[in-house]
Amino acid sequence: MEEIADASTLRAAMAGARCSGKSIGLVPTMGYLHRGHTSLMAHARADNDVVVASIFVNPTQFGPSEDLLRYPRDLERDRAIAKEVGVDVLFVPDAETMYPDGPDHQEIWVDPGSLAAHLDGASRPFHYRGVATVVAKLFNLVQPHRAYFGQKDGQQSLIVGRMARDLAFGIAVVTVPTVREADGLALSSRNVFLSPDERSQAVAIPKALALARNLILDGGHRDARGIAERMRALIEREAPLARIDFIGVVATDTIAPVSTIAGDSMIALAVYFGGARLIDNETVRFIDGTPHFGSR
Ligand code: PAF
Repeated sequence: MEEIADASTLRAAMAGARCSGKSIGLVPTMGYLHRGHTSLMAHARADNDVVVASIFVNPTQFGPSEDLLRYPRDLERDRAIAKEVGVDVLFVPDAETMYPDGPDHQEIWVDPGSLAAHLDGASRPFHYRGVATVVAKLFNLVQPHRAYFGQKDGQQSLIVGRMARDLAFGIAVVTVPTVREADGLALSSRNVFLSPDERSQAVAIPKALALARNLILDGGHRDARGIAERMRALIEREAPLARIDFIGVVATDTIAPVSTIAGDSMIALAVYFGGARLIDNETVRFIDGTPHFGSR
């Protein structure tokens, strides 16, 4: 595995790969790698000749009161994990490489528009502008054929996919299923912040999503508000340490709230345990009027 920190070396390496007719898969990450990331890398490995993973904790996607400074980092460990999974190039830029004038002096941004108006975008006002902008930079630097994002960050994946299409990047955005612990909790770098009590209560998040799934599939429920209320009640009952940020049901194409679940939708939530903000979601697709979940 080659480790590259500067943009020109990366561009040269990628140009060389493209000239030799090799396909390139990109896995953008913020490091502190876990099995969710290695699943993205394994998908990239299976689909492409060259796998590039990036590690960059992007300052512009964190709000002023968020956890940028305490975001977990362990480059030594990340290197070993990336190598083990078969990453060919690990791109580890510093802030100056990604923001030559400094993150506070970035003038041109990618605006995710109304796709960022709800769910996480509503709770974290400039988050998706920062994500879309840094991913656009990575797309320009690497010019991959495919780029891999996790379903856990469902809104992010939809926004990046739309950006790739609307801005004609010519890159296929691949969404990879969420990787979960045995009890259902989605893997996240932020899980490391959970105390043992918070960790055991955090299982209420996947349980709430399972409840929504059952209400829709087995109970025939379609009322988004009613389902969200039942999810909220479950979390409040089973996780007294939880503070719910939002529970929302949106259409997967527009990421706009729906009142009736009759078309392809995403049920998403964000829940704080102490300072750790955990997100998760389920997507439902309708085929001939029948709902289908990824997991069932
Ligand atoms: O999902 C993440 O880790 C980040 O949002 C990403 C896509 C690497 C952009 O900084």
